[in-house]
Amino acid sequence: MTGRTERGARASDYPALRDLLLSTWPNPNDELGIWDYLVASDPTLEPENVRLVCLGDRPVAATTLVMRQVRTRQGWTSGAELTLVCCHPDHRRKGYGGATVRGALAHLARRGGALAVFYGVPEFYPRFGCVPVLPGFRTELAVAPEPGPAPSTAADRSSPGLGETGLRDATEADLSGISRLHDERISIYPASVARSAAPWMWRVRNPEGHALWTLPDGRGYAHVAFNREGASLDVQEAAAADGLTARRLLAGLTGEARRRGFDKVHLFLAPDNLVARLARLDGAWQRYRPAAAGFVAITRWEPHLPPGYRVVEDARCDLFYRSEPGGPERRVLRAGRGPLTELLMGYLDIDDLLLRQEGTVAAAPSETLPPGTVLTAEGDLDQLRADFPKLLPKYTMAPYYFWF
Ligand SMILES: CC(C)(COP(=O)(O)OP(=O)(O)OC[C@H]1O[C@@H](n2cnc3c(N)ncnc32)[C@H](O)[C@@H]1OP(=O)(O)O)[C@@H](O)C(=O)NCCC(=O)NCCS
Repeated sequence: MTGRTERGARASDYPALRDLLLSTWPNPNDELGIWDYLVASDPTLEPENVRLVCLGDRPVAATTLVMRQVRTRQGWTSGAELTLVCCHPDHRRKGYGGATVRGALAHLARRGGALAVFYGVPEFYPRFGCVPVLPGFRTELAVAPEPGPAPSTAADRSSPGLGETGLRDATEADLSGISRLHDERISIYPASVARSAAPWMWRVRNPEGHALWTLPDGRGYAHVAFNREGASLDVQEAAAADGLTARRLLAGLTGEARRRGFDKVHLFLAPDNLVARLARLDGAWQRYRPAAAGFVAITRWEPHLPPGYRVVEDARCDLFYRSEPGGPERRVLRAGRGPLTELLMGYLDIDDLLLRQEGTVAAAPSETLPPGTVLTAEGDLDQLRADFPKLLPKYTMAPYYFWF
């Protein structure tokens, strides 16, 4: 009988680990491809950041942490993307997969990381303290067809060459400028993941389906996917240095959509992104999708808190506030981990939490509320409104963004 152990991986586990990933994702274009690419390219990948459950010495479940700087409402902090969560098909529903997720979050906390971000199965992750806080935003702009015959074949639609739309494929020489635009315009929201100008982070892996385009003067760029089933040009990332550039970029994107026979452009951008705002002024619809699969797990509270606050976590979380050093401290909020994470990540504000009718405003926070509820005192509402305004949490994947 082989014993079960939980541990970090060693480099010598990598062949068996790859077999495990292969058992779950046989297609090398899926997660297996991410693993191979990370091993080959990511200098920060350390074996011990892959948490395993082994039977004997054989890994049967794994979760990988890709250590990154991640944004909180207070600024950049150490965190991770949690990814490649899998259990061998012969060993599922025995708690192994879950144990590696728990082990990864504990490992991240020991390393001083403040949060993990990821997209995952909505039913699986809440049990580990992961909270859906990453909503979806989609701006939908209709594209009038080009006069004359539209391209009719798939080959025409996927034609990699660019037309006279003012855009061109980005090259390595463009990456420092693109990366700067990314830092200034894209990775500014809570849950954004830092990306450098290193070419491996920007590589477009399947160019039949994706492209990284730039304006020739480098003042705007877009990462796009050709959504042939939905007949849309899906813009997954776009940034422009100013309004006039945003106009040129949007004109280029709609021109490329039209030229390829797509009848709409979908912008998966924050609603305050200049390109999305312009599209809205041009008549686009905007859709908001509440968070479901986009998760954050907070592993340390302090980097999420404005000065003067601290969290004490027990069965419930208590948020304390002290207006000046050495002054009296008072409890301003008592909440479950879920609502507190929603508040700190800027997904909901205190009024949303109360509106959801799971909260109470009372003179003194009591001990008797069931988990998940929110309790604050009338006098603290304005303080919480001022210090925890609603934000736009948005995950900017690095480097996975360019994979699927
Ligand atoms: C998800 C996965 C890692 C879970 O591994 P596991 O060892 O079976 O997990 P555990 O035994 O710890 O937990 C099983 C629980 O998770 C639930 N679960 C797992 N995958 C689920 C899914 N896709 N949808 C809904 N529930 C799921 C099971 O129903 C079970 O719930 P229960 O305990 O309430 O019955 C495994 O099923 C797997 O490798 N799946 C394929 C890869 C994958 O989907 N990875 C996650 C990508 S986000």
